[in-house]
Amino acid sequence: MDRTDKSSLIAFEGIDGAGKTTQVNLLVDFFKAAGEPVLQSKEPTDGPWGRKIRQSATKGRMSPAEELHAFVEDRKQHIRDTILPALSRGETVILDRYFYSTIAYQGSQGQNPDAVAAQMFDLALVPDVVFLIDVPPDVGVSRIQTGRGETPNAFEDVDHLRQVHKGFQDLARKYQNIVVIDGTRDIESVRRAIIRQLLEGILKLRYCAKAYGCDSPEYCAYRIAGSCRWARMCKHADLYP
Ligand code: TYD
Repeated sequence: MDRTDKSSLIAFEGIDGAGKTTQVNLLVDFFKAAGEPVLQSKEPTDGPWGRKIRQSATKGRMSPAEELHAFVEDRKQHIRDTILPALSRGETVILDRYFYSTIAYQGSQGQNPDAVAAQMFDLALVPDVVFLIDVPPDVGVSRIQTGRGETPNAFEDVDHLRQVHKGFQDLARKYQNIVVIDGTRDIESVRRAIIRQLLEGILKLRYCAKAYGCDSPEYCAYRIAGSCRWARMCKHADLYP
């Protein structure tokens, strides 16, 4: 099974409480409203390995090695059964967490981040874009407590989140597909920043109707005829005239 040249893989990453799930939902709504095929998914998944991981966050933690193994098995199934089939159907796949979480979280738990990264790049599909929603660790923890009314679980202790936050920052410096988004702003500003990034980047590359790229959107025949997917998405985004 192969990806088509019209599909895109977009992942959201960040510490707990950064606002990933809110932004994933809003981005999926944007694709749906624009009539574009989209698949929303998350990790850990709701499959057997994902359930095991969630249980361990509330009732007694697995050993770091067992935990890494569980995330890897969960991801393999996810890629095989969900992500790759959707990409091969030409859909945009939007993920709430992916393998960068494994590097940042398990890398802050005694696993060597470079070794974990090598393993991840070996087994996983690399996303076209990763949005790293960035908030300081104390903001993340206070949003979990006040916003969701939850008691932070075993993954969410503030000192641990500081290390995870640093892990994500290191990744952002290393990999060009990671776009850091300031997650301390209001929800709508973050949403617009994400959509703008996509329209000016990967979506233009994939969907602009002109083979040599969009030069003058106002006078483009495809746009005027309504046959450019990129132009339709721009119109829907309400960010451009
Ligand atoms: P989270 O996105 O908070 O799931 P939900 O809110 O749906 O229960 O993920 C659960 C925790 O798992 C989160 O604290 C981060 C951690 N995690 C890892 O440690 N490694 C990983 O590879 C992934 C995907 C998540």
